[in-house]
Amino acid sequence: MAGFTNPARAIFTAIRELVENSLDAGETVRVLPEIYIRLSHDDEEEGSNVYTLRVMDNGSGIPAAQVPIALGQFLVGSKFRLKQARGTFGLGGTMAILYGQITTNKPVSIISSTGTSKTYEHRLMIDIQRNRPMILDRKMHINKEVSGELWHGTVVEFHLEGDYYKAMPKVLEYLKQTAIVNPYANITFVDPKGRLYKFDRTATKMPPPPRETLHHPHGVDVETIQRMIRITPCNNMLDFMKEHFHRVGEQIARQFLKFAKMDEDKDPRRLSPDEVVNLVQAMKDFNEFLPPDASCLSPLGEELLRAGILKELEPDFVAVCQRKPSTYSGHPFIVETAVAYGGKIPSRGDILLYRFANKIPLIYDESGDVSWEILKSINWRRYKAAPDMPIAVFVHICSTKIPYKTLGKEIIADRPEVSREILNGIREVARQLQHFLSRREHVKMQVRRLSIFSRYLPKIIEFSTKLGGLQTVPSMDKLYRRETVFKDFITSDQYVASERFDAGLYRTVLVYVRNKHDNSAVNVRVLGFASSKWKELIQEITLGAGSEIYEMLRERVKLVRIEVKSTIQGKSGIVDAFVECLSE
Ligand SMILES: Nc1ncnc2c1ncn2[C@@H]1O[C@H](COP(=O)(O)OP(=O)(O)O)[C@@H](O)[C@H]1O
Ligand SMILES: [Mg+2]
Repeated sequence: MAGFTNPARAIFTAIRELVENSLDAGETVRVLPEIYIRLSHDDEEEGSNVYTLRVMDNGSGIPAAQVPIALGQFLVGSKFRLKQARGTFGLGGTMAILYGQITTNKPVSIISSTGTSKTYEHRLMIDIQRNRPMILDRKMHINKEVSGELWHGTVVEFHLEGDYYKAMPKVLEYLKQTAIVNPYANITFVDPKGRLYKFDRTATKMPPPPRETLHHPHGVDVETIQRMIRITPCNNMLDFMKEHFHRVGEQIARQFLKFAKMDEDKDPRRLSPDEVVNLVQAMKDFNEFLPPDASCLSPLGEELLRAGILKELEPDFVAVCQRKPSTYSGHPFIVETAVAYGGKIPSRGDILLYRFANKIPLIYDESGDVSWEILKSINWRRYKAAPDMPIAVFVHICSTKIPYKTLGKEIIADRPEVSREILNGIREVARQLQHFLSRREHVKMQVRRLSIFSRYLPKIIEFSTKLGGLQTVPSMDKLYRRETVFKDFITSDQYVASERFDAGLYRTVLVYVRNKHDNSAVNVRVLGFASSKWKELIQEITLGAGSEIYEMLRERVKLVRIEVKSTIQGKSGIVDAFVECLSE
């Protein structure tokens, strides 16, 4: 059984599958997920290896009639629509429940409501021989209101054998990374020793929900077509093509059938096995199909990815990037990347890689993954990064079909279209990291230089005044000036600009910004006015709590202004900033 190869892995996989189901269930009804996970020993004795796992969510719930089918048997793919979801084969949670049954011979209990006046409680076992649910007990309860609304959600509880203590580091890592890529979820975990782990949301926005879509002709295999044929209501091939395929209209269907040398009026149910094979081949060879549309996908978005990273890792710097939609073998996909520096990211002597697929973290078998190979192939010194720096790289791919290498949903295969997007995405954020790192180098140098100027200039001026026999000391402003433009400024959700600083006289202009807040990050950008327009001199950067930038502007401009805003809605930072100039 994939994912249940040893006692530690079994615990990990069981938790993961149930949490994924809960997150999917929250997404379908668009409520901010509240997920509660409890793992406890079945008997008090030390060293017991039988556990009870209970996972509760506030998601869609499962309609009573469907509970036994959903979690008490393995679905033989009855789906003809595709959707970006965390689950893939319709068997993840069910497999975990079956594993529990095999190792403990105990039933699973499922309490669920879809928000109606009733809650149903099922106790099930799976009849393995016949792949059928056996309902041991079914009770109905009156549903209760939770904060003015009838409760909806699901509680799954079952027993399983395993080894939590061996699994612990991976389980905690999994939960932390789940929190990164679902920053709008509240996740609570109570482990067998009663220790509480809480991952609180910092975002209240959810990404757009994934939408169901039809198969693209380039993405189907013989099996899928045969399943379609079994259930299709269509009596002829023309309708069959239009009904079951993504972006296939009358005209394209006609063209294609002509290309495939297949009669438009042929009954799809009468296709021979050979004809099905030829049809699939023709679908692959026909180049006139419209490319798949990615609007059914639900990427995280730059804002949420940034929020998740800031929340769990509190770095000094983050850059994020969402690539444009692309496709491989008929499947649409979107790659999102990020890089972060400092904070809780350890310096391990290697750049840390976080991998995600459809908003789930991939924890095992990192070195077989395409992102890992790409990360290794990049010459990081070109970006001023060294392996001993606290740097983390994030790669999220979302698709209606993730190109997993294995059944275990852990490693992503190398598809040229996908690897290209990953590489370009990492490069993009690496360039921003490079700017950040060279800024830091700069800061150290400039701080030293400027402290010398500001200390000695007044003395030099005074001295030369005396030497020249002048009465009044001339102002130093023309040589050196420093002006505070933000003092304890509380940021808001929109960019707010500082006072303009008149920089026309000076050759060297530096800006300094510090975010004094204990845990909220801010976004900063710097604009300059030259040739009658404002332009961005420093692109948006994210300053983590307590971090700062100090940078020399690369261009001469007349006016300078600094703009700051909160990174996460409703979470203000506190900013000090000044502009400092030398005429030299
Ligand atoms: N917590 C839950 N809330 C709502 N529906 C659920 C939940 N858990 C499972 N389901 C339903 O049961 C089905 C089977 O779950 P599972 O065996 O994990 O397969 P998969 O997630 O791959 O579809 C899911 O597709 C979903 O419809
Ligand atoms: Mg599942």
